[in-house]
Amino acid sequence: MIEFKNVMLSYGDHVVLDRVCFRCAFHEKIAVLGGSGGGKTTILKLMLGLVKPDSGQILVDDQDITVMSESELRDVRMKFSIVFQEGALFDSMNVKENVAFSLREFTKSTEEEIDKRVRDLLKILKIEDAIDLMPEELSGGMQRRVAIARSLAACEPRMMLYDEATTGLDPLTADNICNLVNELSRGEPPGRVGFIIVTHKVTDAAKVAERYIFIRNGNIIFDGNIEELKKTKDTLLRKFINELYISHGSA
Ligand SMILES: Nc1ncnc2c1ncn2[C@@H]1O[C@H](COP(=O)(O)OP(=O)(O)OP(=O)(O)O)[C@@H](O)[C@H]1O
Ligand SMILES: [Mg+2]
Repeated sequence: MIEFKNVMLSYGDHVVLDRVCFRCAFHEKIAVLGGSGGGKTTILKLMLGLVKPDSGQILVDDQDITVMSESELRDVRMKFSIVFQEGALFDSMNVKENVAFSLREFTKSTEEEIDKRVRDLLKILKIEDAIDLMPEELSGGMQRRVAIARSLAACEPRMMLYDEATTGLDPLTADNICNLVNELSRGEPPGRVGFIIVTHKVTDAAKVAERYIFIRNGNIIFDGNIEELKKTKDTLLRKFINELYISHGSA
């Protein structure tokens, strides 16, 4: 269980998150939506202890991560895999070295084990032929896959975090990534590997998520399922939903 209790965060006099409260289980399939600068990425960073709130508590498995040391946080971070928005691969390393990075850094795996793990992951992500390519030789969708492989390499996550996994991709490639997100969310609850996908695109969210959280000006203004979302009276949310109807061709 992950729980935000009255989490406040400001940069100077800019309030980024204003007494945010929510709880979720590791097996949930959640989309966090909202406009640019709303605080979506910040929520993921808080969940991993990369950013500390000004006040409030963040509990992961009932433990308050806001008071943890870096070494304690390492164990918390192992519960998640994260694909950051910047998604930047290391430009000077080929695909294999990018995916192997955290194995080399954080585990004592042998060269043989690393090679096997990298090949297995690339196979799951259907990019095994790209193993020797450099990032600049990959399409945007392939880069996203390599970033996902890299995030999975050194951990068996209970929950995957994707920050803008489909942003900047053409609709077909974005669709592929959505399928992948679904495929990687294996098993049945409560043991299922869940995810939080942060996105601007409600149409992509609708392909994968079972729960929708909207953030605006640092507040959660909606938290519910697609049926509840369709009934909302909020004007901004209605705009998001209209996009859904347009993409499904039934206004
Ligand atoms: N290190 C920082 N220093 C100062 N301000 C910051 C910092 N990190 C984030 N912010 C501010 O916090 C707000 C929320 O940022 P965040 O990155 O969480 O937004 P977001 O919802 O992910 O936006 P986007 O959709 O553009 O990715 C923004 O106004 C941003 O400028
Ligand atoms: Mg962001």
